[in-house]
Amino acid sequence: IPTPSPSDKFSFGLWTVAYPGRDPFGEPTREPMDPIYALEQLASLGAYGVNFHDDDLIPFGSDDATRDQIIERWKKGLADTGLVVTTATTNLFTHPVFKDGGFTSNDRDVRRFAIRKVMRNIDLAAELGAKVYVCWGGREGAESGAAKDIQAALDRYREAFNVLGEFVHDKGYDIKFAIEPKPNEPRGDIILPTIGHALAFIETLDRPENVGVNPEIGHEEMAGLNAAHGYAQAMWQGKLFHIDLNGQTGPRYDQDFRFGVGNVRGAFWIVDTLLAGGYDGPVHFDFKTPRTEDDKGVWVAAKACMTNYLILREKAQAFRADPDVQEALAAAKLPELSQPTLSEGEGWADLEAAQLADPDALAVRGAGFEHLDQLALEHLYGVR
Ligand code: GCO
Ligand code: MN
Ligand code: MN
Ligand code: MN
Repeated sequence: IPTPSPSDKFSFGLWTVAYPGRDPFGEPTREPMDPIYALEQLASLGAYGVNFHDDDLIPFGSDDATRDQIIERWKKGLADTGLVVTTATTNLFTHPVFKDGGFTSNDRDVRRFAIRKVMRNIDLAAELGAKVYVCWGGREGAESGAAKDIQAALDRYREAFNVLGEFVHDKGYDIKFAIEPKPNEPRGDIILPTIGHALAFIETLDRPENVGVNPEIGHEEMAGLNAAHGYAQAMWQGKLFHIDLNGQTGPRYDQDFRFGVGNVRGAFWIVDTLLAGGYDGPVHFDFKTPRTEDDKGVWVAAKACMTNYLILREKAQAFRADPDVQEALAAAKLPELSQPTLSEGEGWADLEAAQLADPDALAVRGAGFEHLDQLALEHLYGVR
């Protein structure tokens, strides 16, 4: 069984391991977790980085003196454990003020408060060396039709990112934003529900080059989508700034299982896709340990996220290196897909005049995909 090490660049949200097991139907089943304890445990398991929402670290409403003390203690914990702050984010969802959203609340005063809250935590993120600032707009949405003017809300969403982009630019911070899409939960319908919506939105911003996506496997699968395909498109557009890996079993509530469970086959293709695309950012897990578990179970689950990634990485690499697979890829014409459809110097007029292959002859050719996929499954099942 492979062992994680910092060179694998695994990172965890403070909120993931510290999740105390509260759900809509039940009280927490675990005690609140000291952030320094979380750092120590993560470091001992071989993690590389951490990230946090402002309120994970500094309770909402803390006075300045308390805030400073917490930050000093956090910095010492980081130095002692060697963990890196890869990313930071803002909690714009827990406090009741955000019940109708942060950036897109109908209430202008709430929107102003939300942007300020983000600015304050970006200052801290920059100080701690974070390179990516994640924005998950879980409360940006609605339960009913007339409650939200979606076009106006998108105007306000864009305005918020433009203001924050200006802020980061003016302060000279080396920070990029990563928008995290999600289709629903906690709102009935969330704005920017999928990777595709987010990518299209980003192009409307003043500084689109500074904004990418942070797709979460479970969120794409909640929408019935193929998460690996979404990750691939995000990389193709140079927008995969960060990733939230976890497990999900189809379109249902946001399960946030540890990475590698749920849709195992989907997880295999995600790892393969990340390797193929050369993703080199932090390999981040956004999971929640089920409330059936005690503290020991939390660390079993956290470690398993990393172990499962390493297992799948080995399997994906073995799959790609297998001569039978390379032969099957060629037979399935994968190399041909990388060849431009028109030849060098050829234009539509040449194509119009060209002698084409007989479509009926083309149609009878088998694609060879079943053989190829069976090879992948045999690697995944561990018999190759
Ligand atoms: C969710 C989201 C969050 C975000 C986090 C960081 O709960 O559905 O995945 O966990 O990832 O707020 O922005
Ligand atoms: Mn989730
Ligand atoms: Mn979640
Ligand atoms: Mn997430």
